[in-house]
Amino acid sequence: MKITIIGAGNVGYHLSQRLKEVGHTISQIFSRQTNKAVRIARILEASPIDNISSLTPDANLYIIAVKDDAIGLVAEKMRKRLPGNTWVVHTSGSTPSTVLAPHFNNYGIFYPLQTFSINRLADFLNIPILIDSNKELMKNRLHQLAETVSPKVYSINDAQRAVLHVTAVMVNNFTNHLYSMAEDILRQEELPMETLIPLIQETSKKVSLFPAKEMQTGPAVRGDVDTINRHLEYLEKFEDYKKVYEVMTASLKEMHGK
Ligand SMILES: NC(=O)c1ccc[n+]([C@@H]2O[C@H](COP(=O)([O-])OP(=O)(O)OC[C@H]3O[C@@H](n4cnc5c(N)ncnc54)[C@H](OP(=O)(O)O)[C@@H]3O)[C@@H](O)[C@H]2O)c1
Repeated sequence: MKITIIGAGNVGYHLSQRLKEVGHTISQIFSRQTNKAVRIARILEASPIDNISSLTPDANLYIIAVKDDAIGLVAEKMRKRLPGNTWVVHTSGSTPSTVLAPHFNNYGIFYPLQTFSINRLADFLNIPILIDSNKELMKNRLHQLAETVSPKVYSINDAQRAVLHVTAVMVNNFTNHLYSMAEDILRQEELPMETLIPLIQETSKKVSLFPAKEMQTGPAVRGDVDTINRHLEYLEKFEDYKKVYEVMTASLKEMHGK
């Protein structure tokens, strides 16, 4: 398939390379930063563009991978260069596909459900791709395209994707924030974060094997009140972290009937 990628951030960078790797042609890659567009385009053997008005209508599919709030605006600008029946998708987990509807007749979603960073290798064999479209033919073609990228492909509508995105925020953004808090406390106490790494790894391994609720341990589910009180006393000097500890403890007690 001939594909144009609009956006050269974390997702645009990794997804375009994967598409090229599995045999697709990347026609153009867009970044507002010329140097960035040129650098990535060289790897992709694609044409770099730093202005939406330079888009050409030669691709079979246009993938928008820009920040969520800019998707509608970018689609609006794209429409000035591309016919209304152009196939256009975006890669956002939380933005409805219908944000594209005012501009294009054939629109959809190509959402890789993973956390991407430019300097981390993306293992697409283990990245679920969630696809959707307002047109059955396009949905089938997106499904086929996604299967060339990953073995884990799901047809998921906007409402279902919104639910998955809420839970993705819980398991990734929130847990990572908890790691950051732990990191900060340990740094201030001059204690090594590396002592927690095996615990973090074992926790995430267990969740792929057993229901998370069954694997829950800790003072809140044991009902160890004195331990909890000692923790809260220690956290007096970290007011924000104490609030999070209290909310999490209350939620744990509620779920485990304590
Ligand atoms: N990162 C993830 O883990 C992840 C995972 C799945 C899905 N997603 C989704 O994928 C999309 C891209 O995310 P990302 O992480 O790749 O973001 P990112 O690394 O922050 O990159 C965002 C891209 O958006 C472009 N951009 C920002 N504002 C723009 C505007 N007003 N007009 C045109 N381009 C603009 C930036 O352009 P310049 O290069 O021109 O500065 C950059 O290339 C988002 O919808 C996000 O929800 C992200």
